[in-house]
Amino acid sequence: MPSSAAARPAIRVRGLEKSFGNLSVLRGVDLEVPRGTIFALLGSNGAGKTTLVRILATLLPSGAGTAEIHGHDVAADPAHVRELISLTGQFAAVDEVLTGRENLILVAQLRRLPTPGVIADTLLERFALSDAGSRRAGTYSGGMRRRLDIAMSLVGDPPVIFLDEPTTGLDPQSRIEVWSTITSMAESGTTVLLTTQTLDEAEHLADRIAILHDGTIIQEGTLAELQRLLPAAKVEYVEKQPSLEDVFLALVEDPARKAAS
Ligand SMILES: Nc1ncnc2c1ncn2[C@@H]1O[C@H](COP(=O)(O)OP(=O)(O)OP(=O)(O)O)[C@@H](O)[C@H]1O
Ligand SMILES: [Mg+2]
Repeated sequence: MPSSAAARPAIRVRGLEKSFGNLSVLRGVDLEVPRGTIFALLGSNGAGKTTLVRILATLLPSGAGTAEIHGHDVAADPAHVRELISLTGQFAAVDEVLTGRENLILVAQLRRLPTPGVIADTLLERFALSDAGSRRAGTYSGGMRRRLDIAMSLVGDPPVIFLDEPTTGLDPQSRIEVWSTITSMAESGTTVLLTTQTLDEAEHLADRIAILHDGTIIQEGTLAELQRLLPAAKVEYVEKQPSLEDVFLALVEDPARKAAS
């Protein structure tokens, strides 16, 4: 049944354009994201990543072109699309005065779901936040807050989630925690479209990577496909120095040091 809605890709964008006044931000974006995969949209500051995600999330009208989620057009059928998606924005939606559990319950209530308490407890457990669930979110570390933010976007189990720069501002350890959260979401069948400015994030997480530049997708493919665009690296024997990130992670995760503290 190749033409049925069930066979359509999670996200399909064709010739999408968007301008703000004289500023032409998207100039014909095409992309396709298969279901259950992680797709990274790479681009520098101002490339139009958030703009594209906001159009896909029905928050902003496009100027031209089409965008579909599971075969439903975002402009023609926004109500249906909103049932299929969730967006975790670049700036956290967590209410710092509420506890982690209360934040989750609030979202479940807003989505009119039955048993908000059960939903909250399940997500707290899944995101390793059970112990912190009854603490005000304002006391959470950046990584915990981000995990709570992502957990909030999973309330109601939407099949497609947009994560706009999910790890910006996080330390390396929290970043890895968020990465494993994202991987486990995709393993359970959720389609994830994430935007990022960091190449290693795309490298670690994404099944496919698209580079948004000058208003269009200038390259798209798997990491291996993108790597083949450059000449093979010359083999040289050099002593590999650990990066500062390697050193930092080795130190903070050292079991002997943890036991002593
Ligand atoms: N509502 C708006 N009105 C006018 N200009 C806008 C609006 N939203 C975005 N822009 C402009 O569109 C361009 C793309 O912005 P966008 O936020 O999509 O970029 P981005 O790739 O998400 O950047 P960043 O990596 O900094 O988050 C920028 O030049 C921005 O100033
Ligand atoms: Mg942005």
